Amino acid sequence: MRLELRGVSTFYGKIEALKGVDLFLDEGEIVTIIGANGAGKTTLLKTISGILRARAGTINFKGESIEAYPAERIVRMGISHCPEGRKIFHALSVDENLRLGAFSRDNKEEINAELEDVFRLFPVLKQRLKQKGGTLSGGEQQMLAIARALMSKPKILLLDEPSLGLAPKLVEKILFETIAEINKEGVSILLVEQNAHLALQIAKRGYVLETGKIVLCDSCANLIKNEAVKSAYLGGR
Ligand SMILES: Nc1ncnc2c1ncn2[C@@H]1O[C@H](COP(=O)(O)OP(=O)(O)O)[C@@H](O)[C@H]1O
Ligand SMILES: [Mg+2]
Repeated sequence: MRLELRGVSTFYGKIEALKGVDLFLDEGEIVTIIGANGAGKTTLLKTISGILRARAGTINFKGESIEAYPAERIVRMGISHCPEGRKIFHALSVDENLRLGAFSRDNKEEINAELEDVFRLFPVLKQRLKQKGGTLSGGEQQMLAIARALMSKPKILLLDEPSLGLAPKLVEKILFETIAEINKEGVSILLVEQNAHLALQIAKRGYVLETGKIVLCDSCANLIKNEAVKSAYLGGR
């Protein structure tokens, strides 16, 4: 169940934000995309999930070309997007936020079982069930955003900057433990991060995106040792 992008270009008007991206994610993998602010990481995830349309290229999943499918159909096929900046509904309760994540499903029992699964991953959400999303701490909101994305029971989770704005301790908890746990349950993960240091420790393979182009693709073990990556993304470490 490989996800594969070939020659994908995405535009904002006349601005070409993705310039012929080739990328794949195999079943069970954790793959990261690192790149500076403005490199096109968010655009890439939005293009995969059908929020933005590729103007050129193909996106293949489960043997189908999905690049023209509506976002909702892509969710039903098993690709779920946890967006940058969390985008939870502040005025809705934790429970309501989570149930919205299950919009693509109608079996109540399955939805309830899925709720129990996300509570096992994030016990704090069960305690906050009736609380409004906007009253949660930053870390809890990020957990809610990830949990909501998992409510559609995806095969692939697209994670956009989960570490943004979190305390370092929580970054460790959310990025390391949670991502490893979700992956163990059989979900492939495409992780976008400005915090390259962390991302390269979590993922197995990585891509480096620069102004809309993939300039490097290698195992994370090699990327960490790469001089260009070190000086540009790892603070020279
Ligand atoms: N809605 C938009 N309209 C026009 N340009 C945009 C829009 N969103 C992003 N861009 C531009 O596309 C490029 C890639 O942005 P983005 O994908 O958000 O990068 P990243 O997530 O890597 O920071 C940037 O030059 C950005 O200014
Ligand atoms: Mg972004």
